[in-house]
Amino acid sequence: MLSEEIKREIESYIREHCPTPRGASIEALMVLQRHRGWLSDESIRELAAYLEMSPDELDGVATFYNHLFRKPVGRHVIWICDSVSCWIMGYEGLLEHMQGRLGINPGETTPDGRFTLLPIQCLGACHHAPALMIDDDLHEDLTPQKFDEILERYE
Ligand code: FES
Repeated sequence: MLSEEIKREIESYIREHCPTPRGASIEALMVLQRHRGWLSDESIRELAAYLEMSPDELDGVATFYNHLFRKPVGRHVIWICDSVSCWIMGYEGLLEHMQGRLGINPGETTPDGRFTLLPIQCLGACHHAPALMIDDDLHEDLTPQKFDEILERYE
């Protein structure tokens, strides 16, 4: 069941920005994910009913946006850019280092639940490739050593 806090946050967004509840679907999914960490089938069903949508419609929105998670993720999500500029500037070596350091492959979560590693398309930081994001933080001009230093900032 959606908590009163979640409902309040969604209702406030709807009041300010949307003529209909379904117009708030992306923001509402983000709110729910902030509270629950990821979007289970049950979460999708609960929210769909609240937004007067079918679960399939809302699932279509949730699976379209790669910052919405339909499976559990770690406390921090590392988005490694695998687009062309980052490829040219050393993506492969960096990824190999990251996989060794984290002990996981893209799409996986470390056993301690600290990090999930996911690929993403261009982050718009091509002039500072290779680049990645951890949660909402952009990190540029990466080297394996710089990656190791950055990692220490995330508990
Ligand atoms: S190609 Fe990686 S940031 Fe653009």
